[in-house]
Amino acid sequence: MTCDVTPWPAHGGQAAPLLARYGLPPDHPVTDFSANLNPLGPPVWVPARLAAAAEGLSRYPAPDYRAAREAIAREAGVAAEQVLLTNGGAEAIFLVAAAHAGGRAVIVQPTFTEYARACRAFGIAVDDLSLAPPDFSLDPERLGASLAPDTLLFLCRPNNPTGTLVPRETVQRLLTQAAMHDCRVVVDEAFIDFVTSPEESLAPLLARFDNLILLRSLTKLYALPGLRLGYLLASESLVRQLQVGQPPWSVNHLAAELVAPLLADSAFLARTRQWLADEQPRLQAGLAGAGLEVIPSRANFFLVRPAMEPESMTGQSLKPMTQEPGTGRRGGHSGALFERLLRFGILARHTHGFPGLDGGWLRLALRDRDANARLLAALDEGGVR
Ligand SMILES: Cc1ncc(COP(=O)(O)O)c(C=O)c1O
Repeated sequence: MTCDVTPWPAHGGQAAPLLARYGLPPDHPVTDFSANLNPLGPPVWVPARLAAAAEGLSRYPAPDYRAAREAIAREAGVAAEQVLLTNGGAEAIFLVAAAHAGGRAVIVQPTFTEYARACRAFGIAVDDLSLAPPDFSLDPERLGASLAPDTLLFLCRPNNPTGTLVPRETVQRLLTQAAMHDCRVVVDEAFIDFVTSPEESLAPLLARFDNLILLRSLTKLYALPGLRLGYLLASESLVRQLQVGQPPWSVNHLAAELVAPLLADSAFLARTRQWLADEQPRLQAGLAGAGLEVIPSRANFFLVRPAMEPESMTGQSLKPMTQEPGTGRRGGHSGALFERLLRFGILARHTHGFPGLDGGWLRLALRDRDANARLLAALDEGGVR
């Protein structure tokens, strides 16, 4: 039974409203596949480090966060003046929008919904450039043609929720085209640490393109979304311009203190990459084997939908209990799968609110081997095969 009064939550990691939506009790046990957080994190030393840093809570943080910015600058190979520490990647998105209030933007869709929300908040007129299945690939010519003078372009790589990665050479071409139109290109790399090929990093392009703004998040890799920690990289003058809209002491002392030790923990990064290299192909094969269309991902999550039309599936259980408006037959089918998984204790990320996906797909985070096996077992028991 569905309950249409409970709205779809705007982000992952929110079991309560979804349990309510399907009439399940608040203590219904769920494994969360809806938030894209590293299951290996946070690093074990984090609580002790936070406890040690607590004595600094009685002072204001140093307003320029020099030590944290220098650590990021060393890591990215840029000057500390090119780094702005932010209250999560989310604040960085809103600072960029604030600096372009009243302007025009192009958002490459489907993607993280906060770019559109930030644009709305600052009166920015938005055109969507929609990518389509089966590969959601970006045609740089088409995108280049959509760039009117002074447009802000939002691109996410690897992209949430598709997991696709626009190649570095393509971004480079876009930056050249964008520079000719005085356009700035915002590339959100919140999930870039999960991409194992270092040649994909865009940070070296900052030396050549002063219209590039790179957004980063420390909350995904280190599984610290409650801490609120991110940063942006851009030219020195652009950083100064973006900083104008930032409230003083926006990043709290505990978060700022963690930056250098987090970035120095190369063993944690190596373990994460090993986990990803092991689990990504295994889960992709398992999901495909369970009858799902899986978009090949360069990140720590997969976008999926039932590969077959409902009548060709085995088992009555996959018939949608309620057809979601605007989602078509396969969309309704994904809705039914979402519900069945939830009843089996698996919380997927719905895709209502992502333009072009509109609930017809589900996003599943990669978790540790046991949890991934539970997901595949639930798909099996749920009659997907
Ligand atoms: C693509 C993308 N960028 C930025 C963010 C915001 O992350 P943060 O927790 O650093 O604010 C998210 C969070 O889901 C995201 O998916």
